[in-house]
Amino acid sequence: MELTQDISKVEVKGLEAKYYDILMNIITVGWYPSFIKKAIGDLELKEGERLLDLGAGTGRNALLMREYIGRSGEVRALEIGAEMQETFRRKTSGYSNLILENRRIDEPLPYHEEFDCVFISFVLHGFIQEKRDRIIENAFRALKPGGRFAILDYANFDVDRAPRWVRFAIRKVECPLAEDFIRRDTREMLGNHGFNSFKESLYLKGHIRLLMAAKPLD
Ligand SMILES: C[S@@+](CC[C@H](N)C(=O)[O-])C[C@H]1O[C@@H](n2cnc3c(N)ncnc32)[C@H](O)[C@@H]1O
Repeated sequence: MELTQDISKVEVKGLEAKYYDILMNIITVGWYPSFIKKAIGDLELKEGERLLDLGAGTGRNALLMREYIGRSGEVRALEIGAEMQETFRRKTSGYSNLILENRRIDEPLPYHEEFDCVFISFVLHGFIQEKRDRIIENAFRALKPGGRFAILDYANFDVDRAPRWVRFAIRKVECPLAEDFIRRDTREMLGNHGFNSFKESLYLKGHIRLLMAAKPLD
């Protein structure tokens, strides 16, 4: 079957977007808040760093990042969903260094060697491969040499051999693009674009992964 972007669920809209954070907490039976806190901690952010967040969502992640980068750092959050943008603005209104931009991440971006870290969380799997490659290219270009690209998303595993609840989530709740993403080798995908020095943190019995890769220092 040829996969098209039409089957994607990554553009979150309406009530799902409006109550996104609450829904995530409920669907995961209260696990999500501690998980995302741990994953953002694993990014190893430092005071003063500049971050680009692709498909930023509600601002929950930006607020957690701010605890590490402080007042001198910056999160530039790209998001196209109207409800997500509204929540992001409301949640982050007190912080001038959490900056929201209404910009598509699957089209060429205007940033060049500006960021210490590019972050993408539960977004990349929802695109067809051609667009994933475009997004990775955008990340590579936006990073300073030595900067890191951090993908928080499904790990690569054999869905047929995964526990029943994982198979159900991937095949009945997610779109087919998620399984397509899981089957591909994400390290190889990044390596093809020039990234190296991989580091990973695993969650949820290895089914979710924070994969970090570096842009070489020339
Ligand atoms: C599953 S949500 C994840 C949100 C957030 N990264 C998080 O971890 O909570 C996917 C997000 O990507 C945004 N999105 C989808 N396609 C996009 C695009 N082409 N450009 C920018 N944002 C996009 C959606 O609106 C939504 O907020």
